[in-house]
Amino acid sequence: MCPPNYFGVLYEINPWMHREVTVERDAAQAEWEGLRSTLVQAGAEVEVLEPAAEVPDLVFTANAGVVNASQFVPSRFRHPERQAETALDSAWFRTRGYQVSELPEDVCQEGAGDALPFGGVLLAGYRFRSDAASHAYLSTLTGAAVRSVELVDERFYHLDLTFCPLDERRAMVAPLGWDRYGRRVVEALVPEPLVLEDEEALAFCANSVVVGQRVVMPSCPVRVGRQLEAWGFEVMVCPVSEFLKAGGGCRCLTLALDVVLAATVD
Ligand code: ARG
Repeated sequence: MCPPNYFGVLYEINPWMHREVTVERDAAQAEWEGLRSTLVQAGAEVEVLEPAAEVPDLVFTANAGVVNASQFVPSRFRHPERQAETALDSAWFRTRGYQVSELPEDVCQEGAGDALPFGGVLLAGYRFRSDAASHAYLSTLTGAAVRSVELVDERFYHLDLTFCPLDERRAMVAPLGWDRYGRRVVEALVPEPLVLEDEEALAFCANSVVVGQRVVMPSCPVRVGRQLEAWGFEVMVCPVSEFLKAGGGCRCLTLALDVVLAATVD
């Protein structure tokens, strides 16, 4: 995670962002601390990336890159506004001994925001922020098999707004963000989906952080909570309204480091 010292809505690169909306600095700080302590309470260990001026979206560490054990594939951001983040993210991982593997310069890929492991493959989104062409490179660099899903609704510009792995068999899914082919890909991949209704998806339910049996969510509609609890999960709601102003929820504010992708490609 990266503290929100320099967070703000200073430009508009997704439909949720409006420059005229002000971010309450203290509220953002308090929400961020709340998320961090909730994750720790849920059983996670949190490491911190130093915040930096002039990169207000650095807080959304989900977009730093793709982690695979001791390998890190840094993002190639679509928008110039975020491109300066990459050097900071790469330096953090390099300092900690990760092998940094780079994507070619001419493809965009926005890290774990658009690539989530499930069922032995890496489910990867493309169109608004990541290029479909990045998927073959991701596969070559990590050795993981990649399944591509096109994102079709600009409000869900990253895959992690539409898909949230829960355990080996289950995931929260928001079909509103995908075309018919993408829906079929996910249907074939996820044996027990929790299909989010449009309102639930628009409340960023899929942008949750799962720590073992605990699901840390930006908000939790009753129906969703009932299903998660029936499956044995404990729901922990963590308000992140200041960050929603920039189009990011709980999961966007984190990057999982304990990811090991299944190697299926030689
Ligand atoms: N303002 C950020 C952007 O538009 C939000 C990023 C949200 N991250 C995510 N993983 N969905 O890039």
